[in-house]
Amino acid sequence: MKSVLFSRFFILLPWILIVIIMLDVDTRRPAPPLTPRPYFSPYTGGRGVARLPLRRGSPGRRWGKRNESRPQPPPEPQLPTIYAITPTYSRPVQKAELTRLANTFRQVAQLHWILVEDAAARSELVSRFLARAGLPSTHLHVPTPRRYKRPGLPRATEQRNAGLAWLRQRHGNQRAQPGVLFFADDDNTYSLELFQEMRTTRKVSVWPVGLVGGRRYERPLVENGKVVGWYTGWRADRPFAIDMAGFAVSLQVILSNPKAVFKRRGSQPGMQESDFLKQITTVEELEPKASNCTKVLVWHTRTEKVNLANEPKYRLDTVRIEV
Ligand SMILES: *[C@@H]1O[C@H](CO)[C@@H](O)[C@H](O)[C@H]1NC(C)=O
Ligand SMILES: *[C@@H]1O[C@H](CO)[C@@H](O)[C@H](O)[C@H]1NC(C)=O
Repeated sequence: MKSVLFSRFFILLPWILIVIIMLDVDTRRPAPPLTPRPYFSPYTGGRGVARLPLRRGSPGRRWGKRNESRPQPPPEPQLPTIYAITPTYSRPVQKAELTRLANTFRQVAQLHWILVEDAAARSELVSRFLARAGLPSTHLHVPTPRRYKRPGLPRATEQRNAGLAWLRQRHGNQRAQPGVLFFADDDNTYSLELFQEMRTTRKVSVWPVGLVGGRRYERPLVENGKVVGWYTGWRADRPFAIDMAGFAVSLQVILSNPKAVFKRRGSQPGMQESDFLKQITTVEELEPKASNCTKVLVWHTRTEKVNLANEPKYRLDTVRIEV
């Protein structure tokens, strides 16, 4: 009995070896490096950016040596970089929201994510998250002073300004590369089409925002290709009656208006956008996007407040799990 088993085994052995060798040869192509990127903080003196290979990188390697007949996108050497400034703060849904955002951003070519934590130090959760996000990114942090942490006061002012400061510092000494900046709050939902629209921003572009201001949408009113007013359910007297998610600014405009920042002093609730845009543009100059502002490509979604009523005060589980 034993000898029968042995002889079968030795008959099969060479075939198994051949299969293993063939599989090995096939997988010996170089895999893209997946090393975690370093991140930088202006508050610790570091700056700069590390990149993972972008999707528009070498398709040859991605698809092996076979001649795929997929249509290749035409090379766009001067594709403007989109800088997305995202203020974020620690809360139960933070990682879920950031994951949603990263999954969108990862599909956008030439996007640089500037994630700014409302914290005295970079958190481990966000650091780990960014290192694995597979996106060119910069990780900043700045705490909101305690006196501004009251209901009714604008939020994320310091964080957006830290993002602006980083951009100006990074591009300060050189002729500006083509770039577009927008404020991507972590609770919104972004259509990929929105990035195509904003990428051609010459100075300041605007578009509708869904589910905001107590209406299904708000939008700039456009006549003959020019913004002439605002369709809004709330304080239509604002100079720019627009949500933070409703505009983009070219990097050149940010650099040539070095003093333009979000203000704390004298800023009323809901006036953040107007106060900022007033410093860099006029209503007549605005460039309407999304088919003359008739399409909603971004939504002001809100995650439902999570129910943690049964969360124990002290850890009861045997393992510690990041959520
Ligand atoms: C791949 O296919 C295209 C179209 O069939 C052909 O023009 C090209 O020469 C091929 N490239 C290689 C490397 O075989
Ligand atoms: C926007 O409106 C202008 C003026 O009416 C028109 O020339 C232009 O084609 C429109 N653009 C789009 C994308 O519909």
